[in-house]
Amino acid sequence: MDRAEELRLLDHALDRVRGKDLALTDTDTRISLERYQSESWYRMELDRIFHRVPSMLAHGSELPEPGTFVTMVHFGRPLLVSRDREGVAHVFLNVCRHRGARLEKEPAGRRKNFTCSYHAWKYGTDGTLVNVPSEQCFPTLERSERNLVALPSVEAHGFVWLMPEEAPHRADLDRFLGGIRPDFADLGLESFEIYGAESHEWEINWKLFVEGTLEGYHFPFLHPKSANPLFENGIFFFDSFGPHLRSILPKRSINFVTRTAPADRRLHAVANVIHTLFPNETVLHQSDHFLWMTAHPLGPTRTLVKLRLIVPKGSLAGDGAERWEENRKLTYQVQYEDLEIYREIQIGLSAGANKEHCFGTQEHALQRYNEAIESYLFGDGPGQAGA
Ligand code: FES
Ligand SMILES: [Fe+2]
Repeated sequence: MDRAEELRLLDHALDRVRGKDLALTDTDTRISLERYQSESWYRMELDRIFHRVPSMLAHGSELPEPGTFVTMVHFGRPLLVSRDREGVAHVFLNVCRHRGARLEKEPAGRRKNFTCSYHAWKYGTDGTLVNVPSEQCFPTLERSERNLVALPSVEAHGFVWLMPEEAPHRADLDRFLGGIRPDFADLGLESFEIYGAESHEWEINWKLFVEGTLEGYHFPFLHPKSANPLFENGIFFFDSFGPHLRSILPKRSINFVTRTAPADRRLHAVANVIHTLFPNETVLHQSDHFLWMTAHPLGPTRTLVKLRLIVPKGSLAGDGAERWEENRKLTYQVQYEDLEIYREIQIGLSAGANKEHCFGTQEHALQRYNEAIESYLFGDGPGQAGA
């Protein structure tokens, strides 16, 4: 974030805190509820959003050296993310090219080669088929036609991204990130590492999780002991960049920022900054580290929620891990307080009590977020105007 923007946000945050200014727009709004439960709405989201936009598959530190890999299932497809001998990250279908067995079964690790457990076809970390036992029994086999199936991917801003077939390049990623890209790039996440990764499945629609990060209204009530003591009651504001959002949650310490020399005032020291990367990634900047959260949909009412801290490289050495473990426990506790509520909301949705939900003027980011979703479902996406 450039300095002028940081100072603008600091000033704006102080104004809001002093004025106890909650409203982000003029009027409250209503939202239809089909989006949280219907199979057909979910299918549309898969076709028109998730299959059309880049996905953050892994942080670079999960593939720290040549030969390291991670595997995952991504919208039904088994994927193998591998760093080859030259250090280049690849995304492959994790499927053997002989008769289709799952090639790599471990969630993460390090290998010289990937060997199928069925008939031991062997592939290099760059996906090349390097050995076929009893190869004389395949007289017409062209090895070069049986390399692992590579999917378009880009490594940038600290992450390995799976790219859509029709927009596979780095320039396409930059275009997608649009106005939020400079801010996100400035986080310098390539010099951080993952700590405390945890994932659980929840009986919720994936959007409930993202929406919960887009308002501070609930803080004093749902998180009275965990998060709220740190934050200014309910104060929250945001900017949107195409479909992406950058939100600010001022901490109580912002009241003392004027005691710091103007040149030394830092936004992230007195506020949390939340990058909501459309559609389902949240990177929350908490002073010197980050919380990366993914709401990965498995169905209209089922979501795999992944939580990880992203901490400075090297800070886990010595007794560093103890400090991060304390931090992790508190941070995840807040998320699990939220998730319990989303689970209840999902039950409430099927009970049919509400025909629609209402968003107050302090919840306006949820309205914007749902408008971005609708612009993909019913149009060509929001473009990148409207910062
Ligand atoms: S299916 Fe992998 S070697 Fe046969
Ligand atoms: Fe919360």
